[in-house]
Amino acid sequence: MDKLAIAGGARLDGTVRISGAKNAALPILAAALLTEEPVVIGNVPHLRDVTTTIELLGRMGVEATVHEGMRLEVDAARVTECYAPYDLVRTMRASILVLGPLLGRFGHADVSLPGGCAIGARPVDLHVAGLRAMGAQVVIEDGYIRAQARRLRGAHIVLEQVTVTGTENLMMAAVLADGQTILENAAREPEVIDLAKFLNTIGARVSGAGTNTIVIEGVERLHGGEYNVLPDRIETGTFLVAGAITGGRVRAEGTRPEDIEAVLGKLREAGAGIKTGPDWVELDMQGRRPRAVDISTAPYPGFPTDMQAQFCALNAVAEGVAAVTENVFENRYMHVSELQRMGAVIKLQGHTAIIHGVERLTAAPVMATDLRASAGLVLAGLVADGETVVDRIYHIDRGYECIEEKLQQLGGRIRRLV
Ligand code: EPZ
Repeated sequence: MDKLAIAGGARLDGTVRISGAKNAALPILAAALLTEEPVVIGNVPHLRDVTTTIELLGRMGVEATVHEGMRLEVDAARVTECYAPYDLVRTMRASILVLGPLLGRFGHADVSLPGGCAIGARPVDLHVAGLRAMGAQVVIEDGYIRAQARRLRGAHIVLEQVTVTGTENLMMAAVLADGQTILENAAREPEVIDLAKFLNTIGARVSGAGTNTIVIEGVERLHGGEYNVLPDRIETGTFLVAGAITGGRVRAEGTRPEDIEAVLGKLREAGAGIKTGPDWVELDMQGRRPRAVDISTAPYPGFPTDMQAQFCALNAVAEGVAAVTENVFENRYMHVSELQRMGAVIKLQGHTAIIHGVERLTAAPVMATDLRASAGLVLAGLVADGETVVDRIYHIDRGYECIEEKLQQLGGRIRRLV
């Protein structure tokens, strides 16, 4: 099992190219199921979750051709089965995103329940409730969601809780439904907007994405098209924190500063100098130690839960005391015990971690538990005395493209142990 070894102490200084967003590529790949004409999707990150999605689509009879630069041509003209098996879904919860498209185009779908993961139970009850409101018969048995609908009909759905993939699933289900669907209390993430733009590129009629009310006018059929996935705002934030935690300078290129305003605000509060351009962000800490910053996660445009672990690492070595509150997931502090093993002074009180910054962390063998926790441990390793070895980094490979190469380019002393 691969591990990452990080020698602490290097101050990062350089430029990093940001990859396409995992959490936009996954729903857009699933949305290709909605049309019988081929689509071409560009700027797709080369990640484990993407290859898992391609394998899942392949088992249904979808043909995916990888062109140079990870441009994917996806052809769902000959779908042979509407089935997402447990052995694949359990490795990637986002597989649930095939449910809406399969039901919307083919009228039936058998999709394994994703099951929980390290950060929480991750139920999909809101996805199912929305599909039922659109006229689907949904039975949950033997660990599978078995859904049927001669043709979904438009509905006015008020989501009880903001859910990103729930919003995406229902939006995709609605594009071929009979009539108008209104999704209220919809997620406003940039990845939701990207999916809506892709859907409209292939002939859907989606409006309001990015606000909390999305309106979808059902159409009879969709056509082909080409679309480039937006840059990954969480990868951007992660590398900026890498610059901040080491007191260095990092310029992220091929990204969108407007997608991470909440994160940039907190980095400024931590004492970082931030400059932005149309497609780049530059952070310069000028050798200073970061100041502690309080964090409270929330759905977009609030502070992203996917950046919480990275800011726990930053606060672990910051000047002062910080309160980090996780409001989105019920168990997203698996990184805390690992950071404590590196000398971090953190006290968990319910959903809040109270972090007393220390001058130095010490290297230790640590274990990744989920995608963003593992990123936080790598960041801590960049400043810990000695060599930190992070185990189970298949988690990190799911969401970060070539993380060690990118950190090496910035001057990080990191290598993969196979
Ligand atoms: C998406 O997960 C992202 N994944 C997550 O990123 C991200 O952390 C999360 O949104 C929040 O921003 C993808 O986009 C593939 P939710 P998702 O539904 O959609 C509860 C990463 O690191 N809920 O917005 O699964 C749920 O338990 C991953 O890239 C229900 O109760 O998250 C949670 O407490 C990790 N019932 C809250 O809503 C439901 O039916 C928000 O979850 C659905 C969700």
